[in-house]
Amino acid sequence: MTKLNIVILAAGRGQRMNSDKPKVLHSLAGRPLLQHVLDTAVQLTTGVTCVVYGHGGEAVPKAMAKYEADFVLQEPQLGTGHAVQRALLHLDDDSFTLVLYGDVPLIQRDTLEKMLLEHQALTLLTIHLDNPAGYGRIVRDSAGNVSCIVEDKDASAEQRAICEVNTGILAVPTHLLGHWLSKLHNENAQGEYYLTDIVGMAVTEGFTVHTVQPANGWEVAGVNNKSQLAELERIWQHEQAQLLLVKGVTLADPARLDVRGKLVCGRDVEIDVGCIFEGDVSLGDGVHVGAYCIIKNTQIGANTYLEPYSHIDQVSIGDSCSIGPYARLRPGSILNNEVHIGNFVEIKNSEIATRSKANHLSYIGDSRIGSRVNIGAGTITCNYDGANKHRTIIEDDVFIGSNTQLVAPLIIGRGATIGAGSTITSDAPEGELTLSRAKQITLPGWQRPRKKSNVT
Ligand code: UD1
Ligand code: CA
Repeated sequence: MTKLNIVILAAGRGQRMNSDKPKVLHSLAGRPLLQHVLDTAVQLTTGVTCVVYGHGGEAVPKAMAKYEADFVLQEPQLGTGHAVQRALLHLDDDSFTLVLYGDVPLIQRDTLEKMLLEHQALTLLTIHLDNPAGYGRIVRDSAGNVSCIVEDKDASAEQRAICEVNTGILAVPTHLLGHWLSKLHNENAQGEYYLTDIVGMAVTEGFTVHTVQPANGWEVAGVNNKSQLAELERIWQHEQAQLLLVKGVTLADPARLDVRGKLVCGRDVEIDVGCIFEGDVSLGDGVHVGAYCIIKNTQIGANTYLEPYSHIDQVSIGDSCSIGPYARLRPGSILNNEVHIGNFVEIKNSEIATRSKANHLSYIGDSRIGSRVNIGAGTITCNYDGANKHRTIIEDDVFIGSNTQLVAPLIIGRGATIGAGSTITSDAPEGELTLSRAKQITLPGWQRPRKKSNVT
């Protein structure tokens, strides 16, 4: 099979974004625009992926360094034809080339595969628009065959009335691309080298130009300003919500959900309003997510109930847990089944075994907590001595009284009880009550201080 190269044009200025950041690095659904295109490209390419950059300089290749792509500088930017020409040196001659755009982020793999089905001399992705202003028009002859593309600024009034437009995306054998690009000139309204001029050349040389349409109009929508970016974000989020609804997820309001990554849900999952899911998140059967939770790179087991306003980042949570409201679970935490974490509890890099509870106002960091442990309100693991972090180990069936400080490193033995208000600085033995607390005293006849009178 012929190899497939992908060229992504991303050199343009994006002036209307009114931003110092290169246009293609602005985020949509949590990923830069260009990253969406690259993520689609890596699924398809069998040859070279080449990104043509310019405006914004090295920021673009730097931000995309994790991709195995060739980054080619186009400076100055003399048009789309000139941009592809810059990439040409990097492409194998006996291959196919697909041209994509860094600011057209939502193009889908299925649509591109449809374009590549039959390796034609030239395949264009076109779309019909009610308002085609600004786009290159697809000019067809009396038999309905494509004869050329004419840019809006170069079009006659009659051509401007054509509603089939060029999305810019095209597929072409690389050797023909090189041959046609070498013949481009810039005698047109914008003084640019138009990639679109290769269409007329192909027809003149006797090739038939094929056209394919995208499954959805939003796939070919470009981003030129913040308004289009926001619009496309909503379209994408709407699509994500519809996919979840089709799979049986209950969404309190599909318009108030943001998925910035991949969200996988089991059966009978319920998600209340205002939740944000980032990275890879999976929710088991029967999970309930309360309003305004933010969940990032986390797995949650079946029937776990998240109360509102909980923030969860890189955590693994078991089945039938109860979390929040206002819980904060931080990276490296592993909660087993039936764990209860209540309001204003922060957990970091800690394992908590089955049926343990920390229901109020606590900080648990760098700890390992056994089963059936009860952590009283206001318990703090003092894990940091100003230079190093230390671990706290709390064995099964321990009861920690309220307002206790556990100064790590420390082991609280199985079944131990810690009296409320203690500062524990060394290991507590199994099964015993340990406390460190000043003795309560009463001063008989003591008077509260009074305000001094101003009258003299
Ligand atoms: C282009 C097409 C037009 C099509 C439209 C779809 C040409 C001549 N015209 O027009 O037929 O309807 O896209 O949106 O191709 N770029 C570079 N280097 C350059 C110039 C552009 O990398 O020198 C990149 C831009 O960053 C952008 C893309 O190419 O991502 C399109 O460039 P733009 O100037 O927006 O082309 P249009 O005039 O919109
Ligand atoms: Ca454009």
